[in-house]
Amino acid sequence: MWALSFEAISPTAIIEARSMLALVVPTLLVVLVCRRYWALRDVPGPSLAAFTRLWHARTIKNGTHARDITALHRRLGHFVRIAPDEVSVAHPDGPRKLLLEALPKGYWYETLTFPDSTYKTPMATVDPKEKIERSRLLASAYTTSSLLQSEQAINAQVELLLKWIDEHAVSSKPMALSKFFTFIAYDIMGEIIFSKSFGFLEKGDDIEDSLRQGLEFGAYVAVLPYFPWLQKLLVNPLFASFFQLVMPSNYVVDRSIRALEQRKNNPDARFDYVAHWLRTHEKHPDRLTAKDVQAAATSNVSAGADTVTCALQSFIYHTIRHPTAWRRLQDEIEEAEAEQRQQQMGEPSQDHPVFSFAITQKLQYLQACIKECMRVCPPSTIGLQRVAPRGGITIGDRTFESGTVLSVHLPSILLSEELWEPEAHEFVPERWLGDDKKTAALDKYFIPFGLGYNSCVGQNLVRIELSKILPTIVRRYDISLVNPEQEWTYKTYVAAVPGEWPVYIKKR
Ligand code: HEM
Repeated sequence: MWALSFEAISPTAIIEARSMLALVVPTLLVVLVCRRYWALRDVPGPSLAAFTRLWHARTIKNGTHARDITALHRRLGHFVRIAPDEVSVAHPDGPRKLLLEALPKGYWYETLTFPDSTYKTPMATVDPKEKIERSRLLASAYTTSSLLQSEQAINAQVELLLKWIDEHAVSSKPMALSKFFTFIAYDIMGEIIFSKSFGFLEKGDDIEDSLRQGLEFGAYVAVLPYFPWLQKLLVNPLFASFFQLVMPSNYVVDRSIRALEQRKNNPDARFDYVAHWLRTHEKHPDRLTAKDVQAAATSNVSAGADTVTCALQSFIYHTIRHPTAWRRLQDEIEEAEAEQRQQQMGEPSQDHPVFSFAITQKLQYLQACIKECMRVCPPSTIGLQRVAPRGGITIGDRTFESGTVLSVHLPSILLSEELWEPEAHEFVPERWLGDDKKTAALDKYFIPFGLGYNSCVGQNLVRIELSKILPTIVRRYDISLVNPEQEWTYKTYVAAVPGEWPVYIKKR
């Protein structure tokens, strides 16, 4: 049978195939040799990475890139070649030189448009001027004062979370807090953007298998934009609907499209993100189109949920592993409450199960733990790509040619032994207390939200969410790990995704 099919191939076809191979193989070899020995040849890194992006793609797909690249920086220094055309930067001057300067972003960002390339966001706009212009049209939604108009809605979500935690306290059954933190992170994004939660906390469970699918989609989003030719095909409006049938499904896009439609017909909606953006859209329909509004909603849900659940998890996981930190937090909270009660003597009680944002801003140890939980487990992990400008760029003692793709690797900066000695990998909230000069020096390198024109627009919301949810839990419960000997594991794609770390809950 095999012999027969070979005989069926004509001699001319064989000669043509041979000449093709004779052309392709040497060309490929020349490309590979140039990649290895031309530009960036003296930047250390895994051998495979000098030839192909596949080394980097594999470490992202495996969910280990943050750990792998951090370890490489520790071994090889400030600059590591992670792909033929990309150098990861962990030099202390890297964030300032690459992120604070308004350099163009690298190609990874360019194809982050869902469901197709006609849905434009500031995140996917690589030209700094154009990006800043786009961001300006969305900015009014992100201010703390505007967000605090939704404080009651956030409180209601926290109360739903408390109901589930109370239930586990009563039953004494192990609780997967990680799962419930993901629920609240999504539901609060729903409230803030569309005036309506996604309903995870209401149900106390995943809906339509969406969170598991979201994980698959997270790996896809992290890897494919590194292959822009392929990604451009996938997000091309002509083919996008077809590819959506075969690619991992994007729950966030589907839900956000439905949520926006419902939101437009909701007469009780608050002045949420969508209200800000629709107001701008009505004034400048050509500058902020209806598709831009949809894209902004989708990108905020994706950017805001997985990162916040990671920060919530890191806080509780690390503080319960450090019982002195947990007790110190409880003491600080109780003292603040006692003080508040004294100030309110004679007035009606202001007690509420959920902390008000204003009170928590005075709790120094709480704020130190919040910072430290995002340092020791950075929620956003993908390298932030920037392109070296005309004339090149010098970082430390190294100059990179114009056009070189340089990425700031946040985990390598936030866990750098050079910057955070002596206990860079330890959870030490005390490093954020005391001497203002010392903490100001550390603040320079505390960049979990990035820096400069593309830094996180959700920072104010993050502060509100963490400052309300975490002290509320610390005040109300004692929490212990089911497996105290076992460290948690986590995977990293665009964001870090901690694994299961079940806990026992006791109500105080
Ligand atoms: C602990 C939680 C969070 C962390 C650590 C974090 C971190 C980051 C980082 C590092 C960037 C990218 C910087 C760059 O590419 O140069 C970013 C961008 C972004 N983040 Fe966050 N983020 C968090 C939560 C949020 C939340 C809650 C929202 C939504 C309200 C949000 C919305 C965005 C958006 C829309 C961008 C793109 C920037 C832009 O459009 O200008 N993030 N975030």
